[in-house]
Amino acid sequence: MKKGFFKPLLLYINSGYFMFKADQIAKELEDYLQGLEYVRNPEGLYIPVRYALSAGGKRIRPVLLVMAYNLYSDEIRKAFGAAAAMEIFHNFTLLHDDLMDNADVRRGMDTVHKKWNANTAILSGDVMLMLACRYLTDASGKNPKPILDIALDTFIGIMEGQQYDMEFETRDDVTEEDYIEMIRLKTSVLLAACLKIGALLAGAGESDANLLYRFGEKVGLAFQIQDDLLDVYGDPKVFGKKTGGDILCNKKTYLYINAYRRADAAMRKELDRWRVYDGDDPQSKIDAVKEVYDAVHVREQSEKLIESLFGQAASVLAEVNLPDARKTVLEEYVKKLMNRVQ
Ligand code: IPE
Ligand code: IPE
Ligand code: MG
Ligand code: MG
Ligand code: MG
Repeated sequence: MKKGFFKPLLLYINSGYFMFKADQIAKELEDYLQGLEYVRNPEGLYIPVRYALSAGGKRIRPVLLVMAYNLYSDEIRKAFGAAAAMEIFHNFTLLHDDLMDNADVRRGMDTVHKKWNANTAILSGDVMLMLACRYLTDASGKNPKPILDIALDTFIGIMEGQQYDMEFETRDDVTEEDYIEMIRLKTSVLLAACLKIGALLAGAGESDANLLYRFGEKVGLAFQIQDDLLDVYGDPKVFGKKTGGDILCNKKTYLYINAYRRADAAMRKELDRWRVYDGDDPQSKIDAVKEVYDAVHVREQSEKLIESLFGQAASVLAEVNLPDARKTVLEEYVKKLMNRVQ
């Protein structure tokens, strides 16, 4: 343990536990992640891995895992191996997702398929998936099966979610319910699993661990709706991704589904026309669809849903059998996430 390690990290001492704040956890985690050796031969496989993992990102999933661990133990470094594994898995999904979504920019940098090529994004992504499984197995103690079961079911769920996401691009009958289930799978289950795994690694009971999973599901839904909002209304310089990508891919987001539902006949005609647009002026499609979104106020509607989901998440967190004071850091962190701009 580094001398003075705890001093700057100590924030709250609640009910006998040292509670670490999210930015302190994130900083320690970053050092841990950057300290891992990613590059071996052939370099062409691993250099993109290091590129992706050193590009920053909010590190939400590992932070949530460590925060859940910290609800039951203050020896948070013991959770870093599992946390890093989940972040590596997340970054694997991004390499493939950017290829699937035809996205050139992430975290303000060229995406892997843009900087190298599609094959690199596929294979370096694949090895990241396996590295994540490797690290998670190593970090799950003598009996890794319960943790691996959660992780593997989660990983399968995410791929199901991604498949729905792609299939929805060419469907025009996607309901709000379909959308919620799709984002639960592609996004929520990973946040939820991180919370559950963190809690279990620290010795939490099944009931609390399951409540934290449900909490993560609600947070994940709100997080993805905010992501969809930022894809339309975000500032690309801060967001780190190009905006308008969801509109260009005909993604069936909460915004799109509700805009179509609220639109009058003329607006629907407009949306239908742009859906099949094949021209060389993507910006005009983005602007036209956004105009309909604005006219029917789906931004405000989405913000209301995010707020409501946060309320639901907070109610589930309240059921976790711990003193309220110990849950404050987690609740505050998640509250901030709901209004993220990045
Ligand atoms: C991007 O996740 C993928 C989604 C589920 C929206 P993040 O927004 O957490 O991406 P990074 O890791 O912070 O870059
Ligand atoms: C991301 O959904 C879900 C996964 C990567 C599994 P998005 O496609 O909305 O994520 P971004 O916007 O590219 O980060
Ligand atoms: Mg994407
Ligand atoms: Mg996607
Ligand atoms: Mg997105």
